[in-house]
Amino acid sequence: MIRLVIGSRNKKKLKEMVELLGDLPLELRDLTPYPDAPEVEETAGSFVGNATLKATQLAKALGVWVVGEDSGLCVPALDGAPGVDSALYAGTHGADEANNDKLLREMARLTGDERAAYYISTAVLADPTGKVIASVEGRCHGMIVSERRGTGGFGYDPLFLVPEYVQTFGELPPEVKQRMSHRAKAFKKLRPIIEREVLGNKGQA
Ligand code: IMP
Repeated sequence: MIRLVIGSRNKKKLKEMVELLGDLPLELRDLTPYPDAPEVEETAGSFVGNATLKATQLAKALGVWVVGEDSGLCVPALDGAPGVDSALYAGTHGADEANNDKLLREMARLTGDERAAYYISTAVLADPTGKVIASVEGRCHGMIVSERRGTGGFGYDPLFLVPEYVQTFGELPPEVKQRMSHRAKAFKKLRPIIEREVLGNKGQA
């Protein structure tokens, strides 16, 4: 079976991505079988640039198909912050609680439409030589509430209200997030491309 590696070390993001592609007839793996995989520096300054760095560097190093993903939360009223640096908004990579505290502080004076926000996920597929085969993007629009609600999801989810449900991703069941999230939308676009380019191309391991 053809192997496809999801090039992420973020356990919660990884779980969502594996679930989104899990039914494809592929040997889907995370980086666990590759303890020596390079640590990719996210230095591109854009979601698509960082996703491309992850996919291409890992595919080249491991000699397998790789999906790289970069994502974050954007608040137009904060000029797009936390943006491409969402994971280290408050200074320490992946410090969700501190990131949420900082977002609440920065938005304390914002009301109504100024509290609009969207998540963005960019996924890049690279072939085993490290060549980019496809790049897709998904967005999910919502509002930032003024205090945490719920404990589900990860990152900014307890603050991200989904207007259709009037509940945050922290409160909603994981199945709902898996249907409508930025990552779900990006991977829905990626799926037919994987079917065509990876599964239709049996020549490459
Ligand atoms: P990355 O690992 O560099 O792509 O950083 C992603 C960061 O964006 C995470 O650490 C979160 O802060 C934020 N983020 C991305 N997707 C989500 C999500 O689905 N829920 C909550 N936060 C997210």
